[in-house]
Amino acid sequence: MLGIVIAAISSTMYLLESHLEKFYIFTPSNLHQLSLEAISLHGNDTASVVSHIVSSLSSTHPAYVNLDEEWVFNNAGGAMGAMYIIHASITEYLIIFGSAVGTEGHSGRHTADDYFIILRGEELAYTPGKGMYEPERYPQGTVNHMKRGVVKQYRMETTCFALEYARGWIPPMLFFGYADTFSSTLDFPTLWRTTWITGKQMLGNLAIGKL
Ligand SMILES: *[C@@H]1O[C@H](CO)[C@@H](O)[C@H](O)[C@H]1NC(C)=O
Repeated sequence: MLGIVIAAISSTMYLLESHLEKFYIFTPSNLHQLSLEAISLHGNDTASVVSHIVSSLSSTHPAYVNLDEEWVFNNAGGAMGAMYIIHASITEYLIIFGSAVGTEGHSGRHTADDYFIILRGEELAYTPGKGMYEPERYPQGTVNHMKRGVVKQYRMETTCFALEYARGWIPPMLFFGYADTFSSTLDFPTLWRTTWITGKQMLGNLAIGKL
């Protein structure tokens, strides 16, 4: 019985996997263009940059954008910051993530492609390897594209905020997003709010046929 269930799930996953593209509603290049436009209009006035991005997305993707700007802390991979969830579904999420004081940690090894578009400040990243002694630098307006399965150490030396877009399988990423709560922060009110917002987004999108 268990064998049949596992076989059914994995063949469904396999089938969906080859059609994942069809479910995406955002594109990395459009999000990057929109971010550059917002920065050129509002510079380091990050509140205005964020509101320009969100209001523009809500006019192009009316049903899929969360206009309720609620911020929650996020602890993952040893790093700490805060996020505003703009969109979350089974195959995509779009958030504003960052910290006014900076942070440093492990990126996580994810089941989705991740595009980290820097809206304010600079992100440093490190991939270990032969001859790899210099940090990768991602200043304002650039994109740190972390391919599915890739791991980096990252650091925001001081105030830094990014528009983070992930596409692929989102639910498995939630385990990484939650792990630090159980092993370190024990901040259950934050865990509860994050679950509430994410669940509302994911189920709301599913209800209108957005996987
Ligand atoms: C934002 O502030 C940084 C640091 O002061 C500066 O280097 C950068 O040019 C500013 N960006 C814009 C778009 O004004």
